[in-house]
Amino acid sequence: MCGIVGYAGKNQAAPVLLEGLSKLEYRGYDSAGICVYTPEGLRVEKAKGRLSVLREKLDDGKAITGQVGIGHTRWATHGAPSDLNSHPHLSDSGKIAVVHNGIIENQARLRARLESQGIHFRSETDTEVISNLIGYYYDQTPDFISAVRQAMARLEGSFALAILCADRPGTVIAVKKDSPLIFGFGEGENFVASDVPAILKHTQTVAYLDDGDMAIFDANHAVFLDAAGDPLEKKREHIAWDVSDAERGGYDHFMLKEIFEQPKALRDAIFPRLKDGKAVLEGLELDRDYLKSLRKIYLVACGSAYYVSVVAKYTIEKACRIPTEAVMASEFRYSDPVVDESNLVIIISQSGETADTLAALREAKRRGAKTLAIVNVVGSAIAKAADQVMYTWAGPEIAVATTKAFSNQLAAVYLLTLHMAGALGTISQEEYDSLAAALAALPDAVERVLSPENLKKCQYLASRYCGRHDAFYIGRNIDSAVCLEGSLKLKEVAYLHSEAYPAGELKHGPISLIENGTLVISVLTQKELYEKMISNMVEVKSRGAYLMGLTTYGNYSIEDTADFSVFVPKIDQRFAASLAVVPLQLMGYYVSLARGLDVDKPRNLAKSVTVE
Ligand code: G6P
Repeated sequence: MCGIVGYAGKNQAAPVLLEGLSKLEYRGYDSAGICVYTPEGLRVEKAKGRLSVLREKLDDGKAITGQVGIGHTRWATHGAPSDLNSHPHLSDSGKIAVVHNGIIENQARLRARLESQGIHFRSETDTEVISNLIGYYYDQTPDFISAVRQAMARLEGSFALAILCADRPGTVIAVKKDSPLIFGFGEGENFVASDVPAILKHTQTVAYLDDGDMAIFDANHAVFLDAAGDPLEKKREHIAWDVSDAERGGYDHFMLKEIFEQPKALRDAIFPRLKDGKAVLEGLELDRDYLKSLRKIYLVACGSAYYVSVVAKYTIEKACRIPTEAVMASEFRYSDPVVDESNLVIIISQSGETADTLAALREAKRRGAKTLAIVNVVGSAIAKAADQVMYTWAGPEIAVATTKAFSNQLAAVYLLTLHMAGALGTISQEEYDSLAAALAALPDAVERVLSPENLKKCQYLASRYCGRHDAFYIGRNIDSAVCLEGSLKLKEVAYLHSEAYPAGELKHGPISLIENGTLVISVLTQKELYEKMISNMVEVKSRGAYLMGLTTYGNYSIEDTADFSVFVPKIDQRFAASLAVVPLQLMGYYVSLARGLDVDKPRNLAKSVTVE
């Protein structure tokens, strides 16, 4: 959950590193640091707090001279955020400097062993174990590559590392296992980074490092070795993103920008896969015979991606008539799940590197299931490990709270549902055509949800309720899943306690928490459940709740019950989650803003959760 970057090139390293780190802050932002080869040797500068603290300290990098270096932005695991625990970490000898993303599981044992050899530690981090381990081997035989390789063999857990050695000015070594690392090829300069946005300004030509790969590079050369130490040809890939994709543009926050990017992101995900009114999922092997053989589909994910899974459970089960279960990845792995080759396990992840999700994927494969990953980040660990991949093509998502990636995950699920139901013949041709038409209409419909009128309404409600302590979200069926996501948004970015409940379940406990003025947001997009929802709304209203109703245009009778209503376009109700979620994202955003919080970088969170 940290971000790392490495640079060797024709330019001054410190400004490049700091600029790169600013694009990786979504991965962690409790402290930052860099190490540069200066004419006087390795110089380490680090600071607790946001990257801006370090930037100021170093005059945006101008305070350090040197063209090769490494940098890090941290989300603390071992050791609280502090100057001392910030990366880079030097070995006791001062010869080796390391930045690290990941977690070393056998760090305590290694630390004890190194300490028994007289090696002195300065921080509480697992990363200092790495620098000292490499330093230990280097002291025995001063061979930089071999010292790194020997240390790697002893590390358990996950790591992406960028390493400098005081005796090899100009050279950076980068290695990885279970944490992402990409290599960027420039003109007279080379890069490594945890993610593409960090280097996009300089190059669009990258190579994805695989587990066990080692990159050894300076400004003009890059050599890649595989796990056995043999030379490796890495495939160069072109990143189609534009620099502006990873910039805020005219928006105040990435979250708002990404909310507004949803119509385009949906077009990018849907239109290439909808040909002549048919879902065409190139590269996926999900034919009728295979689908018929399935006894159950599992959807496994974390956070918002799990809520997409909950929507998908309803959508897939209804259209395909295959029993489908959504499971949180952190629970799946240790629940001894009944999974074998008669199951398809669909893994959903924006980053493609969430530790629990990756572990669940491996567990599913181990038990013989076929796995299909719905992933945004190309070349990520989950994309690589799954049997089949369906990319969500949402483009880079920088705000910690997901919006457009969530929407594109939903779109992927709809496409999959359409394909599977078509292959199985579980829906009529007429139904198929109507669903395909609804899918094609989705991007425009989302655009309409983002109308100035809706924006104003959400802003108004947010300003009215930003000082409250609790909010409740209620809905039935797919709407109850949308509520889960809406409630999560409020928790994540606005730090407001909120609960999402299937409306029928409310009276089995949570209703006792409703008092005068409590905000209850009710989502009603499912026609046959509309009246039942109104009854549930009346129940809370009579206990003093202030009611927001979120429904489709036409359902104006909601105004008889709700104190405040927001309308979204009517679309096939199986896809209505995609419309209903947008005002809830806006609510989260505006409440956060009204409370003066850091919308894009909420406290304690990180976008990629690479620890279990
Ligand atoms: C973190 C993020 C969430 C995200 C979840 C799963 O908690 O803050 O927004 O939904 O991880 O991430 P993934 O990358 O696997 O979708």
